[in-house]
Amino acid sequence: MQTQAAAASFRLGVLGSGKGSNFAAIADACAAGRVPAQPVLVLSDVENAGILELARQRGIPAEYLPPGKFRTKLDEETEARYIARLQEARVDLVVLAGFMRILKGPFLKAFEGRVVNIHPSLLPAFPGLEAWKQALEYGVKVTGCTVHFVDQGVDTGPVIGQRVVPVLDEDTPASLHARIQVAERELYPACIAAIARGQLRREGRRVLGFPPAL
Ligand code: GRF
Repeated sequence: MQTQAAAASFRLGVLGSGKGSNFAAIADACAAGRVPAQPVLVLSDVENAGILELARQRGIPAEYLPPGKFRTKLDEETEARYIARLQEARVDLVVLAGFMRILKGPFLKAFEGRVVNIHPSLLPAFPGLEAWKQALEYGVKVTGCTVHFVDQGVDTGPVIGQRVVPVLDEDTPASLHARIQVAERELYPACIAAIARGQLRREGRRVLGFPPAL
């Protein structure tokens, strides 16, 4: 069993491009002692992203790192800067919280098996952008959110945990997205806590040890 001091030394590096509600839920769960970890660095590719402001309000170092010349990924030099900053901060886990760029081989190699993401659907259904809108248009009756390890594909990595969210007749894309985000803010901290406690084990693609909540 880990001691409290050892547990709190599990260091999170968080990457985000947006408002940062998942980051805030994680940071607050860490501060409250519900997740035995601490966010030590927040990086964003968007200069005025809300996530940077939320980090600064909490006294967590937050930096804008210009993304370089591409729209959906980081160029080689920029990716190397992201890796360097996270390594300097000695992070144990890289947490993607609404980071809108695809991370390539060198990044995933530098943090092998230590990058996690949250996606607003029950993967493998509806990967990619605006997954709540895809779910609504398809007509499914339940959707949800998925926390997974990141691999070379888009939203294809091994699943750590999922939460189910109902789709209601009167839903709009916005109302469904809002309901999914409530579930995200519960699921993501719980998954990170399980990782920080060393609770999970891998059997091929299967990640075992995180309790389902149906
Ligand atoms: C979340 O809905 C998450 O599923 C997706 O990006 C969104 C980020 O929202 N990957 P926030 O910045 O955490 O509020």
